Amino acid sequence: MKYRLAYWVCLMLLLAASGCTSASQSSMQPKPIVIVVIGKSVNPYWSNVEKGVEAADKQLGVETVMFVPANEDVAAQIQTMETYIAQGVTGIAIAPSDPQALERVMKKAAAAGIIVTTLDTPSVEGSVSKVYIGTDNYDAGKIAGETLARLLPNGGKVGIGRGSDTALNALQRTEGFLTAIAGTRIRPLPPVNDQADAAVALQTASSVISANPDLAGAFGVYAYNGPAWATAIKEAKAVGRIKVVCFDTTTDTINGIKEGVIDATVAQREFDMGYKSVQIIKLMVEKGVQPALDEMAAVNNIITTGVDVVTAANLREYEAALDARGIPHEWTTRGWTPPLARP
Ligand code: BGC
Repeated sequence: MKYRLAYWVCLMLLLAASGCTSASQSSMQPKPIVIVVIGKSVNPYWSNVEKGVEAADKQLGVETVMFVPANEDVAAQIQTMETYIAQGVTGIAIAPSDPQALERVMKKAAAAGIIVTTLDTPSVEGSVSKVYIGTDNYDAGKIAGETLARLLPNGGKVGIGRGSDTALNALQRTEGFLTAIAGTRIRPLPPVNDQADAAVALQTASSVISANPDLAGAFGVYAYNGPAWATAIKEAKAVGRIKVVCFDTTTDTINGIKEGVIDATVAQREFDMGYKSVQIIKLMVEKGVQPALDEMAAVNNIITTGVDVVTAANLREYEAALDARGIPHEWTTRGWTPPLARP
């Protein structure tokens, strides 16, 4: 992806101690607000977060930098935090791949006077993070489980693919999902961790399908998991027999819905996560932490961005809602005939 290289180049320049954002500020000018957003793994999902960050950058007049490691990579997240602590940036919003491991460096940033927040995946209890902005992952996992339970009234075996065994969003989604299907005749297989590597996700999806010829359903916890299941199901000629519920609305997932391989996806509002993460740090600088939390209607230091369940039946409506809010998306339903309208 085009931005990944830019991030690494930027990071290297920073490591060379030159600074990528504000090196040329004259001492007479007020210090610019510099906000760093650290994601989890290169994926169109994080490109959407970045679009929100860019929109806030332009509209709110702050400087932003975004860094996303190739895959789930705790060491790269820690190293990036250290780099920007040394730079003395204003704020850092991070999606911690391992909240325990990241807390030490998050504390270090806070002690250096940097505003630390989290997005997409929460921090540990009692963290220095001033606010979490993102999905209520337990609830969203429950919604996914309830949706799959409706698709599988007779139950059956279900495979689960996810990209982390430490990130709280993956753990909470799985927990919500398992809670929703408890008491049904759905039998979950143990979740498989692919470390956010789409190629590994495809291999594991294919192995689960061949090891379980009676597989009835699949749950994709992260953005690339739905498309991985969809490809494996098409290769196994099991379209329609294995029901798929997943997360997010990247182009591959929408294509899966259009083709009738993916039954439903829980769409997060990642553009808003990026935008609001920048917005709240700016507000905290200008008005103070509590007034900023109040103005943005945080409850218990959480701003829940919400989800939408997208299926072939409401895909057009969902697209229209995104368009009405000016939220960019690369896919389109133009030229696509929804299944109900098919002859
Ligand atoms: C998750 C992110 C993750 C992404 C990976 C999303 O569903 O919220 O944490 O990095 O999927 O593709």
